[in-house]
Amino acid sequence: MAAPGLDFVIHDSLDADIARAAARVAAAARVAALTGAGLSVESGIPPFRGPGGLWTRYGEPPLDGYRRFLADPAAAWRERLHPREPWAVGLRDTLAKARPNAGHLALAALEQAGRLHALITQNIDDLHHQAGSRVLLEIHGNHRLLRCVGCHARFEPHRVEVDPERLPPRCEECGGIVKGDTVQFGEPIPPDVLRRCYEETERADCMLVIGTTATVYPAAEFPFEVLRRGGTVIEVNPHESELTPAATLSLRGPAGAVLERLLEHLHVAGAARARRRVS
Ligand code: APR
Repeated sequence: MAAPGLDFVIHDSLDADIARAAARVAAAARVAALTGAGLSVESGIPPFRGPGGLWTRYGEPPLDGYRRFLADPAAAWRERLHPREPWAVGLRDTLAKARPNAGHLALAALEQAGRLHALITQNIDDLHHQAGSRVLLEIHGNHRLLRCVGCHARFEPHRVEVDPERLPPRCEECGGIVKGDTVQFGEPIPPDVLRRCYEETERADCMLVIGTTATVYPAAEFPFEVLRRGGTVIEVNPHESELTPAATLSLRGPAGAVLERLLEHLHVAGAARARRRVS
């Protein structure tokens, strides 16, 4: 079976909207993007909400995940090393085999062409990084990395000694407790990445918002901030979201096909050529 979205047909009216979006991107002084779980659906990673969503299937995890971590970090680490929660096992295995899709590659190509200046992602799946994106801000962290809750230093896993007899592992820089870089429910967004996200949002006069229900803050606030300053917001989503009524343009289709077509209208050489048919 073809990956979701690959066999999507871009009809004339959508293609006309994509051409309008391309004109807005081309006219913008500084373009930022905000991405969510929907962008990684075509890589086989389920979204959180809506049909087939992780939280739809398993229920939202407790909103005090971070308080529980701080209450007993050793127990949290034992769960991290040997997850028992079915959704956590499923997500770990799916993340391990997922690869960037046409949507990720298109955003990396847009950056390489100098047309995308900042990429804020809510996704923890590392796929933007694997696709070659470098102007990347991972506001909810990266599942591959570790982070100190004290000094916010981030580490590649091989840089931290994890001894199951002496949990939690400690930060080599400040002695603080080390946890997964993924931001848990109830955990403050690390100040360094949050500050950069606000800076890039304030500098952008055009924001592409791809594959998000725009329901989780502070990320959901960023497109409205761009609109408040008279900027352009272009949504890419097969379904309506909280942002749709306010968006300048809402492109109703899967990210991979729509972003590849956007690149074509912008005459940007895409990493993966559009496999689409226009009827
Ligand atoms: N292309 C583009 N968008 C898609 C696609 C696709 N192929 N498939 C689904 N979508 C859209 C859905 O219509 C939905 O609007 O992606 C969105 C996914 O929404 P959520 O599951 O709510 O994901 P997201 O908005 O990223 O969640 C935000 O919530 O649970 C927390 O920390 C988690 O980062 C996450 C945050």
